[in-house]
Amino acid sequence: MNPSPNLILVGPMGAGKSTIGRRLAQRFGLRFADADAWVEEAAGATVAQLFQREGEPAFRQREREALATLLGQDGLVLATGGGAVLDADNRALLQRRGFVVHLEVTVDRQLERLAQDHSRPLLARDDRAQVLGALATARNPLYAQTADLAFDTDALDPAAAADALGDLL
Ligand code: S3P
Repeated sequence: MNPSPNLILVGPMGAGKSTIGRRLAQRFGLRFADADAWVEEAAGATVAQLFQREGEPAFRQREREALATLLGQDGLVLATGGGAVLDADNRALLQRRGFVVHLEVTVDRQLERLAQDHSRPLLARDDRAQVLGALATARNPLYAQTADLAFDTDALDPAAAADALGDLL
């Protein structure tokens, strides 16, 4: 494992950040944290409820606070939300405070993995493929510029992806 204080996973919805992160934390004896879960616990509401009640900008502010608080610590594997890299200050913080891995996934695989998921407000529409495609176009350059390493999860289930990524680190 490299000497960075934290291992930080970035990438889109359905890349497996939480599942892979939890498994890597176990393997390396680190603590696992999930930025969305931190926001939900602090707010006493789900991400979907926060989007609905307060709007996306207020959620993004909560997400900034989550990242700043969590990355005040060392020894974490941190799963970020798919939109965390939108903010330039977040990107700088992630790079400063950890070794950042971009978990890559295609839109087709995202659609498969998220088919039964109704918790993500950005996907609460019929045209999921278009939404995910547009997000990928806008965000993939940001993931790439933030990450120290890109890891393709497309052909692997999360457990296999975690094991293969863990072998690389
Ligand atoms: C979002 C991704 C979600 C969550 C919120 C917004 C995004 O996290 O933060 O629904 O903008 O892509 P996951 O990537 O963990 O699904």
